[in-house]
Amino acid sequence: SDAHVLVLVGSLRAESVNKRIAETAVIVAPAGAEVVVYDGLGDVPFYNEDIDVEGSVPEGALALRAAAEKATALLLVTPEYNGTIPAVLKNAIDWLSRPYGAGAMVGKPVVVISASPSGNGAKWAHEDTSKAVRIAGGTVLEDVRLSIGGTVDKFGSAHPRENAEVFGEIGHVVAELVKAADELVSA
Ligand code: FNR
Repeated sequence: SDAHVLVLVGSLRAESVNKRIAETAVIVAPAGAEVVVYDGLGDVPFYNEDIDVEGSVPEGALALRAAAEKATALLLVTPEYNGTIPAVLKNAIDWLSRPYGAGAMVGKPVVVISASPSGNGAKWAHEDTSKAVRIAGGTVLEDVRLSIGGTVDKFGSAHPRENAEVFGEIGHVVAELVKAADELVSA
């Protein structure tokens, strides 16, 4: 595989469980595939059409777009804030959705993973993220969704990579995403 997967995390928190799940996705990358966690989401200003014009796009948004354009697939890993997608991730999707019809996600396979300490595993955030990605032109792999609930009970202070079941689930998701990216390239 020569897939290049860009991972966007919906939490900026240093000890974020979603960030740790993203780190696990990097470890399980199949041979040849490159999985990279984007660490500049906190530097992306709020989307504003007035600044989304040639010469005025802020550095943080340009960097995000460049990283996404280079990617052949995207993995979004997110918590749920007040029953929906955290603003930081929605803002990233909004930047990547423009220029309209020609954003960096158009036609690329995308998978969403959500995680939260609650039982439902941030399912609403998962659904809303998938919806926004679809509207932004990404191809959400509906069959490989993953929501991880009860993260505090499941992991405690341990890293999710140390949980065999979750490690396997993340491995499956990344393998399917890489497969979709490779199929697209060879098609
Ligand atoms: C939350 N949390 C939360 N959890 C949930 O399952 N549903 C929700 O609607 C919310 N709402 C919410 C709002 C805000 C503003 C915060 C800060 C938190 C709890 C959330 O799941 C928990 O803090 C996670 O650990 C956040 O994910 P990270 O940062 O560990 O990746």
